[in-house]
Amino acid sequence: MLKDKNIILGITGSIAAYKAAYIIRALVKKGAKVQVVITPAGKEFITPLTLSTLSRNPVISEFFSNRDGTWNSHVDLGLWSDAMLIAPATAATIGKMANGIADNMLITTYLSCKAPVFVAPAMDLDMFAHPTTQENLDRLRSFGNHIIEPSEGELASHLIGKGRMEEPDVIIQRLEDFFVGQQELSKKKVLITAGPTYEKIDPVRFIGNYSSGKMGFALAEVCAQKGAEVTLIAGPVSLSVHHPNIRRIDVESAEEMYQQAVKLFPETDAAILCAAVADYRPQEQAEEKIKREATGEIALHLVPNKDIAAALGKMKKKNQIVAGFALETQDAVAHAQEKLQRKNFDFIVLNTLTDEGAGFKHDTNKVTIIDKQGIIKDYPLKQKQTVALDIVNKLTELLV
Ligand code: CTP
Repeated sequence: MLKDKNIILGITGSIAAYKAAYIIRALVKKGAKVQVVITPAGKEFITPLTLSTLSRNPVISEFFSNRDGTWNSHVDLGLWSDAMLIAPATAATIGKMANGIADNMLITTYLSCKAPVFVAPAMDLDMFAHPTTQENLDRLRSFGNHIIEPSEGELASHLIGKGRMEEPDVIIQRLEDFFVGQQELSKKKVLITAGPTYEKIDPVRFIGNYSSGKMGFALAEVCAQKGAEVTLIAGPVSLSVHHPNIRRIDVESAEEMYQQAVKLFPETDAAILCAAVADYRPQEQAEEKIKREATGEIALHLVPNKDIAAALGKMKKKNQIVAGFALETQDAVAHAQEKLQRKNFDFIVLNTLTDEGAGFKHDTNKVTIIDKQGIIKDYPLKQKQTVALDIVNKLTELLV
């Protein structure tokens, strides 16, 4: 997929710059043409000689050569490229990209680039977690840039946490997946449910759960990147959508989510039911806030909510695909298989809370995909974005 692709590789001043050498080697091996653009700080970490030898191309760093006045045109470079990858991307470069501070060749190239841009951050855990960095990354996402989330591990500071640039083979895989999948789902309509639902007790209290919505939002982004028209029915979450092909519908309760889902499903090619829907709601919802002094001890009478997944499974036509999730704590595979049958899913994504780093509160997840033919595939612990790609690849296999 990378054969004859023109790739700009932007390198910035991080210890992870040495990994750029592996990235270039892999890209060149796969037949890509690589043009390195390095920031002045980047050159402190890896020499242009290494990079030009591996890429078989002179490395660009300055706007013009002091020696002979040759002008490096960032505009031409931007037009030449099929993709731009910035790996490693420091907090400073990410900040400049997010705010258009074009004070070096890499940023001017970025601003001129019409091709898709991939950014692989590398920095210390506190720098990565800082709201400024996160806001800047959100801005880049809103421009349609692809952020290759860093993984957790030992950092240059010897601290352990999230900020370590993703490994070269994972980065290359993301680029390949992008080129393979660019249009795979074009003209397909995908419906996704995500996040928790809140079931009202009174005007200020609810029954909810810990779902962050991250998995469902990642699925929506990946489907949209593959060309699908996505409708995302989201429970109460503090996440934003970035891709212009995602239509977001916010709901609060399971009943609202159900109403939207059954209304929209007939128009869609596939549904992925990722929401952690509350199974029960209070039978009565108090109109006024329940006062402790006046009420004393209370018992909530709970009644079951409608099963959205089962409803769509029943409505499903021959050419439609429905996929769901199962979160199990014991006899996981057997329970997931039973759920797959009962809800008439085409495949089910199984999570177990017992795996470290998997489940509700993490950015990572470890899943097993079971399809209705009985094929069971285990995946290793990965970033939720990458897990989303595995799930959408499975969907694509069945849909296209
Ligand atoms: N689901 C749904 N509507 C519900 C409950 C669940 O759409 N009211 C979907 C979830 O989004 C998920 C799948 O069904 O894709 C399985 O959810 P889970 O809570 O594991 O299953 P339940 O049917 O609630 O079974 P149990 O609680 O007995 O495990």
